[in-house]
Amino acid sequence: LVAMTALCLLLMAVSAASVLAESTVYFREQFEDGDAWMSRWAESKHKSDYGKFVLTAGKFYGDEEKDKGLQTSQDARFYALSARFDDFSNKGQPLVIQFSVKHEQSIDCGGGYIKLFPSKLNQEDMHGDSVYNIMFGPDICGPGTKKVHVIFNYKGKNHLINKDIRCKDDEYTHLYTLIVNPDNTYEVKIDNKKVESGNLEDDWDFLPPKKIKDPEAKKPEDWDDREKIPDPDDKKPEDWDKPENIPDPDAKKPDDWDDEMDGEWEPPMVTNPEYKGEWKPREIDNPAYKGKWIHPEIDNPEYTADSEIYKYDSVGVIGLDLWQVKSGTIFDNFLITNDPNLAEEVGNDTWGKTKDAEKKMKESQEEDERKKREEENKKRREEAKEEDEEEEEKEEDEEDEEEEEGEEHEEEEEEEEEEEGTDSNLKDEL
Ligand SMILES: *[C@@H]1O[C@H](CO)[C@@H](O)[C@H](O)[C@H]1NC(C)=O
Repeated sequence: LVAMTALCLLLMAVSAASVLAESTVYFREQFEDGDAWMSRWAESKHKSDYGKFVLTAGKFYGDEEKDKGLQTSQDARFYALSARFDDFSNKGQPLVIQFSVKHEQSIDCGGGYIKLFPSKLNQEDMHGDSVYNIMFGPDICGPGTKKVHVIFNYKGKNHLINKDIRCKDDEYTHLYTLIVNPDNTYEVKIDNKKVESGNLEDDWDFLPPKKIKDPEAKKPEDWDDREKIPDPDDKKPEDWDKPENIPDPDAKKPDDWDDEMDGEWEPPMVTNPEYKGEWKPREIDNPAYKGKWIHPEIDNPEYTADSEIYKYDSVGVIGLDLWQVKSGTIFDNFLITNDPNLAEEVGNDTWGKTKDAEKKMKESQEEDERKKREEENKKRREEAKEEDEEEEEKEEDEEDEEEEEGEEHEEEEEEEEEEEGTDSNLKDEL
């Protein structure tokens, strides 16, 4: 009977564990059913001139169908699009947010992040100041801003991460993943590789500091924190003081000096080699030195621990609320789940499967471009040469001929420079 009970308990424990570990997908969007996404995503009407999203795999891709996503299509616009899913709370469970971003336009300035909203959000009125739970993803503006935002709303206030997480700034598709755990730890992954992790309490200023300097404590008046003092026994030598400048002893009155005309002759001043500067007593260890005074700390009365910083009671809308100067960013492969492992698998299955082919296609497009440019340059050179020859036939002038050859040389050099420039650009991108 005891054995039976033990077995029963074991079975119950196993089934309880498997219930807990069951993964839930709260939201997934792959954009693989043509225009049907329009019924799932709603544009805000808060403003009348939001930029349009279009469904496309872009200029280059790994799989024309699977890589279709939402692309920003108008420059210098705000974008405000969102999708709703069943309201949930991440209490007691991991929360995983994952999506892919491709700045194929070689972005200069624009957001590539998502916002996760509580269910009560009015999608038709979503705008920059709508209250959200989490903002996550890349943001680029000029060479100065290339970061991954991880912003949490905590008790009504948005808190930015204290660490710098650099985002990808090339033109390929990249996978961004945020994992928030119920033990108040987090992890950020790019392309399924961890780039940052830690504690919510350490890496955001959600809570006031645990310890503060004791306001009651004061440095005692007689606290001597001078490590060295001037030696009181040291005395200035009697012969120390000498003038800094003296009349040049080597100077001679010029022979043609006329006292009446030029005034009385005075030798120029020079630096006195015997001048020793200001006298200072030597320094000795201070016998009364007590060490640096350290302000004692006390527990901060304002601090209250919170074991549920990570927790949101309501999550129900995902939104793209962005500004883009140069449009062309493609968002795809949205996933919100409680299972980090599933997210990694999905990432491998989507971004992981098409990334290499995408790169190859871009590279071959660039190779084609390069060849085309080369052909055009060659043609231009040949045409120029023909013209030169015609002219040569017309005027059999030797000097002219030499000049023209010189010009031809310069032209070729310029073209070589151009090609080198393109190559180094290519290398940068790879
Ligand atoms: C995802 O792919 C990487 C690299 O191939 C592999 O190491 C990892 O185990 C995969 N993850 C999952 C959950 O399948």
